[in-house]
Amino acid sequence: MAVHPLSFSPSCLRRKIPSLFYTPPPETIVEEKQESVLHIMGKAQLRGHVPISGAKNSALALMAAALLSSEGCTIDNLPCLVDVQRMEDILVSLGVKVRRCQGEIELDTSSLTNSQAPYELVSQMRASFFIIGPLLSRLGVAQIPLPGGCAIGARPVDLHVRGLQAMGAEVEINHGIVHASCSGGRLKGAKVYLDYPSVGATETIMMAATLAEGETVIQNAAQEPEVVDLANFCRALGARIYGAGSKTIVILGVPRLYGCKYTVIPDRIEAGTYMIAAAITRSEITLGPVVPEHLVALTAKLREIGVTMTMASPTIMTVQGHQGTYSGIEVETSPFPGFPTDMQAQLMALLTISAGNSVVTETVFENRLQHVAELCRMGANIRTRGNVAIITGVEKLSGAPVMATDLRASAALVLAGLAAEGETQLRGLHHLDRGYDRLEEKLRNLGALLHRD
Ligand code: UD1
Repeated sequence: MAVHPLSFSPSCLRRKIPSLFYTPPPETIVEEKQESVLHIMGKAQLRGHVPISGAKNSALALMAAALLSSEGCTIDNLPCLVDVQRMEDILVSLGVKVRRCQGEIELDTSSLTNSQAPYELVSQMRASFFIIGPLLSRLGVAQIPLPGGCAIGARPVDLHVRGLQAMGAEVEINHGIVHASCSGGRLKGAKVYLDYPSVGATETIMMAATLAEGETVIQNAAQEPEVVDLANFCRALGARIYGAGSKTIVILGVPRLYGCKYTVIPDRIEAGTYMIAAAITRSEITLGPVVPEHLVALTAKLREIGVTMTMASPTIMTVQGHQGTYSGIEVETSPFPGFPTDMQAQLMALLTISAGNSVVTETVFENRLQHVAELCRMGANIRTRGNVAIITGVEKLSGAPVMATDLRASAALVLAGLAAEGETQLRGLHHLDRGYDRLEEKLRNLGALLHRD
């Protein structure tokens, strides 16, 4: 079977501006010592319905974008996650008044005065860097510590910075802090071509441009659903944004933004994870709400493997695992509408028990195959060469003690544990808590046997 060339596009950017790349010290990669263990008893059948929460990646961007408004706003369908709590803490540290009731958050941004984000909070979550665009736009100045990298790669911010510079911002990086300011207090619209369709950079530039003077055009923009959700949210605040979801986004700056009430889109990565839970346990479940167009690449690959998916209604999907043999496939991650890197680890868990050879090529992040070693502890047969994993299907996995290395890797290990014979003990649960809303409760309601101690 042909192995894909070892291509990794974003690394070429890395060579151009070395000073903007931050490699976190090892102590920031392991966020905190965790004693808790998730015990998963394999081979349980799943059945029933699983509710899908609001999208983590949308929620975080929307909360940052709320800073653009001088009135405030209400966001609902927020997932209950550690990362959302961290973003809330960052907003509070900037002077935002917050009222939160379950999935709804009211943000009063009228008294925003502080343009300096605290290192202790920002270093824990990369998405916190997203506040740089709104702060700069709204206050004309922002000081944000370089975000922590994470286990999946160095995760530079050069594209964010270059975009802001193109809009007239002066940016200096001193002692790990990004100091950004704009003379005259207002950014100027510009043409920004992204060397790579970075989600975060597209979002930073789009947010900054909403209050800039004149027209901004982002070329080679990211097309992810979360970018579209952010654009819709900003439009609800009064921004003039056209073309989000395509490769070219045009923003006409306005002098100020107002208030709104907005609902976060469903989390396509959470939905995808439960779709694979049904497949890997050869069960039938329904899940929703989902937006089927957000799941096209995943459903295509799952069909190729042998999973059946139908829409029971416009937003409820039925997923039916196959009782026979699944087929191995080839898959390469790429920006939307390609196969999402955030589903790569979970799909690989399913491929470990799919017949024949599968090839998974990770092209978005440089170091996102760390789950391979853990899956192998559970009996999987996987070899890696650079950013390519070659998986030879085995008949069954067996439960083992394993360590979560990052957010989606931890979901992959839970999925593998659901399918394995015997008990899997998963450690490193802080990763799971960052990004999966009540995962254990949702899985238990489907009939899975798992508990944390
Ligand atoms: C977002 C998502 C993350 C997802 C990723 C790709 C959030 C909070 N997180 O992350 O879950 O996996 O999109 O779909 O929305 N890059 C540069 N320079 C930059 C910015 C990025 O070289 O200035 C590189 C990155 O190192 C990476 C690639 O571009 O290799 C993609 O990153 P990007 O799309 O920016 O991901 P994030 O916005 O960080």
